[in-house]
Amino acid sequence: MPLVTTKKMFEDAYKGGYAVGAFNVNNMEIIQGITRAAKKHNSPVILQVSAGARKYASHGYLVAMVKAAAEETGLPIALHLDHGPDFETCKACIDGGFTSVMIDGSHLPYEENVALTKQVVDYAHAHGCVVEGELGQLAGIEDDVNVSEEDANFTDPDQVYDFVTRTGVDSLAIAIGTSHGAYKFKPGQKPQLRFDILKAVEEKLPGFPIVLHGASSVNQDDVKTINEFGGEMPDAIGIPEEMLREAASMAVCKINVDSDIRIAMTAAIRKHYSENPKHFDPRQYLTPARDAIEGVVSHKIETVLGCSDKA
Ligand code: G3H
Ligand code: 13P
Ligand code: ZN
Repeated sequence: MPLVTTKKMFEDAYKGGYAVGAFNVNNMEIIQGITRAAKKHNSPVILQVSAGARKYASHGYLVAMVKAAAEETGLPIALHLDHGPDFETCKACIDGGFTSVMIDGSHLPYEENVALTKQVVDYAHAHGCVVEGELGQLAGIEDDVNVSEEDANFTDPDQVYDFVTRTGVDSLAIAIGTSHGAYKFKPGQKPQLRFDILKAVEEKLPGFPIVLHGASSVNQDDVKTINEFGGEMPDAIGIPEEMLREAASMAVCKINVDSDIRIAMTAAIRKHYSENPKHFDPRQYLTPARDAIEGVVSHKIETVLGCSDKA
């Protein structure tokens, strides 16, 4: 099956009260782990590539591998640019086989975010590609940009209608208290999300797909495994799964996960190495890593996203 845009995925997800998972990919094993889980559950899936991933693996390899996964699985798979930093990067992805791009102007003054996002939307729509914009800013680290907790700011529901109608974006990422990376809440802190903001956004934009970034849950067993086998991860608290499920039942149609995959992969490799110190064939440790990714994604599809059998 050729790559698809997220248009129908989001229409179905909105109506069905579920969300589609958007997982960051950097190499073949990650792509295979994710798409094997999607295949097992007959689920649509979004594979997303950050600017850093493009630099690491190169555009051509990633596009070719994602296309191979779509052909092999026969599933609806969208290839999405995550946190597109500028028009040029979005254009390169639109011209180079992506079906969806995010332009992240969330750090810009409002009018500049509107102008940049509209420029990307005009180009993308003329080339059959969809666009995700962002209003509000999450805390955490993406590529080289580190947004401190003090600089993060929640989305203002009074801006969303104006932003969406003036830019023409197809989906909107909002900030309601999630954040990027493994350390979302401090030890002892009670995780909280601003569902009141999500509800207000939903009322301003009925039927419009909302995106949640920074949505890893940080599996405590994986953190324990990493530390048991030589790692030094500080206590990490993620977004509780029941909160993500609730968001998915509301207007949230796309849930972004990267850190959970990184943590599962690292735990599997550390465990493998500790039990098999003599191994030096990368296939020996990448096999359990790929299996662990499949397990994480499978669990998300079943318990958080609710997108089983929606392909
Ligand atoms: O939100 C950012 C994603 O986790 C991608 O991370 O920029 O290190 O590839 P990255
Ligand atoms: P996590 O760091 O919570 O996995 O978020 C990933 C993300 O939002 C990618 O855009
Ligand atoms: Zn993100």
